[in-house]
Amino acid sequence: MADSGPVLFFDSGLGGLTVLREARYLLPYEHFLYVADDAAFPIGRWPEAELTDRILVLFEELIREHRPKAVVIACNTAFTLAGDALRKAHPQVSFVGTVPAIKPAAERTSSGLISVLATPGTVRRAYTKSLIDSFAGQCHVRLVGSDKLADLAERHLRGEAVADADLLAEISDCFLEREGRRTDIVVLACTHYPFLANRFRKIAPWPVDWLDPAEAIARQLVRVLGDKAVTVPSDHPPDRAEFTSNPQDPALVRLLAGFGLVLD
Ligand code: DGL
Repeated sequence: MADSGPVLFFDSGLGGLTVLREARYLLPYEHFLYVADDAAFPIGRWPEAELTDRILVLFEELIREHRPKAVVIACNTAFTLAGDALRKAHPQVSFVGTVPAIKPAAERTSSGLISVLATPGTVRRAYTKSLIDSFAGQCHVRLVGSDKLADLAERHLRGEAVADADLLAEISDCFLEREGRRTDIVVLACTHYPFLANRFRKIAPWPVDWLDPAEAIARQLVRVLGDKAVTVPSDHPPDRAEFTSNPQDPALVRLLAGFGLVLD
């Protein structure tokens, strides 16, 4: 298959932009396409079988149409569920995934108390449990599933008011005290959440390391592209964004322009 197409980023909404912005620092000349299945947002609540089917069907079309040279699934909820199935269905495509950063958290924690803040889907996944078993056996890992945070992150990013109390209600279960020790790392295991990290820092009951995997994912993309990466200025078409609900929203057009994307 031709692999001269763009690097395709995928998420259910605006969260994958936290990963795209890191990729742009490392790959400033690369050609990107951002695809959001916002018609399905939020996907954190979807039943697993339906969501897998939806993602597989969508990618049949995306890969046929765009022939991406690599795909970044910039979404924990999608990748922990459908990552293996996508790789099996498209063996010729290089996929870069997003999974909860449990391994680096387990390596860095001093207190041994880690929390994983994610969508309800991601905290339920067998994939997440296996990361804990493989890499964090010596830690106490608390899984905190939030129904609302992805949506609150989108509102915050769109400039709408989001109350501290609403955020605190979603994150307070992350903070655990046990035998004189406290949680010292919270894994941001949904790509929407780094947009709220500064708000979290202000309202947290005590300081913790909010672990955002975006930079590590961008570095993995650089490794995967290898000598296929564009390293000099080139005249590729503008970087575009496709949203499955086909929104006609001038505010979204402006927001995406700030990330260097033209909304189709
Ligand atoms: N951004 C997605 C993730 O990383 C999830 C948002 C949603 O629930 O749709 O998990």
